[in-house]
Amino acid sequence: MVTSGWRIYNASPIFEFKFPKMLTIGGWLGGALQWHFAAMWLLAINGLIYLLVNIISGRMWSKFLPIRPKQLLADFRDALMLKLDHSNLQNYNAVQKSAYLSAMLFIIVTVLSGLAIWKSVQFPLLRELMGGYDNARIVHFFAMSLIVAFVFVHVVMVTLVPETLVAMIGSFKRNKTAGAKS
Ligand code: HEM
Repeated sequence: MVTSGWRIYNASPIFEFKFPKMLTIGGWLGGALQWHFAAMWLLAINGLIYLLVNIISGRMWSKFLPIRPKQLLADFRDALMLKLDHSNLQNYNAVQKSAYLSAMLFIIVTVLSGLAIWKSVQFPLLRELMGGYDNARIVHFFAMSLIVAFVFVHVVMVTLVPETLVAMIGSFKRNKTAGAKS
């Protein structure tokens, strides 16, 4: 979605710059729009299922909430000093909780602003909530930028604590006492 979006952007840039062509897909505006609209269904359907399952099962509350400001500050400080506790990867620290919730929010905003520019006539309320068509494009662009920033930071963090990659894919549990004689 990002790389096809960048190709769409290049056809009519909002700002002074363009994205390098080699970072884009679709070849031209029409091709990029087709990629964008094909992938959008994958994202929207997956996202909807993810949100529904998390809300209905209560996982949203048990995994991501509550976030206490004091804890967030303390964990943020530890994260900067690379001192976060990774003994149980199933429990998210406050920085993770807020980062994941923010990523969900950025994706929701991207989808809603995307809908406002794609079907701006059919969704007038959504378009006006975004501040009109032109503004919806800017909202879409900045929400995309936040997602890209999240992915970048996320990948950097994963390289610092590689076990998290396994935890993300499977139900791997690293236990502090694992390996100890019992
Ligand atoms: C349901 C989801 C989405 C829909 C319906 C949608 C729709 C659209 C449409 C119609 C455009 C063309 C705007 C124009 O003609 O100026 C566009 C552009 C773009 N989209 Fe999406 N989009 C969606 C999700 C995403 C996502 C998830 C990303 C990236 C994370 C993204 C990134 C972009 C970018 C960078 C552009 C170019 C910005 C511009 O120049 O307006 N889109 N999108």
